[in-house]
Amino acid sequence: MDRLRRTMLYVPGSSTKMLEKGKDLDVDSLIIDLEDAVALSQKDAARETVVKALNEIDFGNKEKNVRINALSTPFGESDLKEVIKAKPDAFVVPKVNRAEDLLQVDALLSSLEKENGLAPGTISLHAMIESPHAIVNINEIAASTKRLKAMLFGAADYTKETRGKITKERLELLYPLNKMVLAARVNGIDAIDSPFFDIKDTEGLIYHTNIVRNMGYDGKSVIHPSQIKPVNDIFTPTKEEVEFAKKVIEAFKQADEQGIGATVVDGQLVERLHAEAAKRTLMIAQRAGIV
Ligand code: COA
Ligand code: MG
Repeated sequence: MDRLRRTMLYVPGSSTKMLEKGKDLDVDSLIIDLEDAVALSQKDAARETVVKALNEIDFGNKEKNVRINALSTPFGESDLKEVIKAKPDAFVVPKVNRAEDLLQVDALLSSLEKENGLAPGTISLHAMIESPHAIVNINEIAASTKRLKAMLFGAADYTKETRGKITKERLELLYPLNKMVLAARVNGIDAIDSPFFDIKDTEGLIYHTNIVRNMGYDGKSVIHPSQIKPVNDIFTPTKEEVEFAKKVIEAFKQADEQGIGATVVDGQLVERLHAEAAKRTLMIAQRAGIV
């Protein structure tokens, strides 16, 4: 885990007001958007707004990501060339269908890093997984480049392509969501869920988020300030979970020292695997600043 990504907030790159607001919101990452949140007529102006915002606004410890337009559009290459000057942490690549889509961005970034005096590999990548092709090719995409730190599911584009429907229960998305988290785990990168589009429906947001939390997802994209706290809460260990994790680590350590492989904490079986999971819980809690 290179950093926490419990909440990744989309901010339209064309909105100076929302960009400024973004600096005070309690999210782990920002996804400053030049793609679908920006009208075609505003692409060039938005790019300038984003460069200015990255240069002038202090976003603190938040991860600063910029979602570019695909390289197959007239805007993608200029997005990379101009925005790299303001040194974002990562670019989010939309509509990745196969490994080559990322490798193309990776190669262009390598030459742009050189031109801009940045060490090779300074800028990371995140891939949007939002098509049937992406799900079919997920393993090669996840393994394609060392720059890749996270895959972000995009439910709206995915559902448009499958001609399906997003439901309250999310059963239609269990297959792609599970397939994506497996590829993320195999390749040591983060799996981030799609946004939830009904801003007023907090109960629905929590229901959808718990599904992916239980699958192993690391975080969720959000689109509105009201979605931040519910999602952060789900991806942050509770006080009880932290206390239990500490007990598990200690009990396993003592058992291990006595040559015993399994013990019991609060009526629960504890083996090495539980101690390892507990260490991860503590690490997330530490990074979240709650211990
Ligand atoms: N980032 C930062 N600030 C945001 C925000 C966001 N994504 N969404 C809303 N805000 C701000 C608003 O500017 C407003 O600020 P104010 O109180 O200082 O005026 C406040 O939060 C409340 O917003 P609200 O009035 O409820 O919503 P809105 O009508 O201004 O905006 C959306 C609604 C959907 C247009 C807006 O949330 C948005 O653009 N979200 C991101 C969309 C996006 O990036 N899509 C691409 C990926 S799917
Ligand atoms: Mg999309």
